[in-house]
Amino acid sequence: MPSVPVSLAVLVSGEGSNLQALIDHPDRAYKIAVVISDRSGIGALGKALNAGIPAEVVEWADYASRDEFTTAVCDAAQAHGVAGLVLAGFMRILSPSAMSRFPDAIINVHPALLPSFPGANAVEQALERGVTYTGVTVHFVDEQVDHGPIIVQQPVRVNDDDDSETLHSRIQEVEHDLFPEVVAAFARGDIHVESGRVRWKTPMHAGRMR
Ligand code: GRF
Repeated sequence: MPSVPVSLAVLVSGEGSNLQALIDHPDRAYKIAVVISDRSGIGALGKALNAGIPAEVVEWADYASRDEFTTAVCDAAQAHGVAGLVLAGFMRILSPSAMSRFPDAIINVHPALLPSFPGANAVEQALERGVTYTGVTVHFVDEQVDHGPIIVQQPVRVNDDDDSETLHSRIQEVEHDLFPEVVAAFARGDIHVESGRVRWKTPMHAGRMR
């Protein structure tokens, strides 16, 4: 474990339940240096405020292009000296310049077992398709949407009487366990990308997580 926690930026667009799980996680391998939102007035900003974490709004509508928005987000993160970006329910797609500035250091959580059901409405897509299992994927972000090297996946059973709310809430329970564990492992230097695939430094740890 590094003696100094690794500083990270958490990017949000919504309620921030994953942000809260990251805040509450007891592992001190990482420190949330800043929370960055693409909109104001969301629950996640209140959670940052309550935890005493600096929060910044980089309003999507204020930028003429995705590239300019991405530059502003990365500048805000870099101003806090972070080593990586953690996308916790962040609903914007970042331009490839973000991956150049934070190579193999952007982590996303997705509410489905990728490559199934990428994009928005992953929970609804799973229900419509009638799968018996969906789940959670935590992955590194690359240039394509919901596509980069997969770090961990965990299945969630779909019940006959599930609607998107009940299923999403069980998916989120898993997210809240898994996501901070992965972020802590990343901060400890336990995971890296080799030839497009994720490698774990400690196989035992990988076994427990997978
Ligand atoms: C999560 O389920 C995440 O997988 C999805 O959006 C949701 C965000 O929830 N991309 P929250 O803002 O962390 O509560």
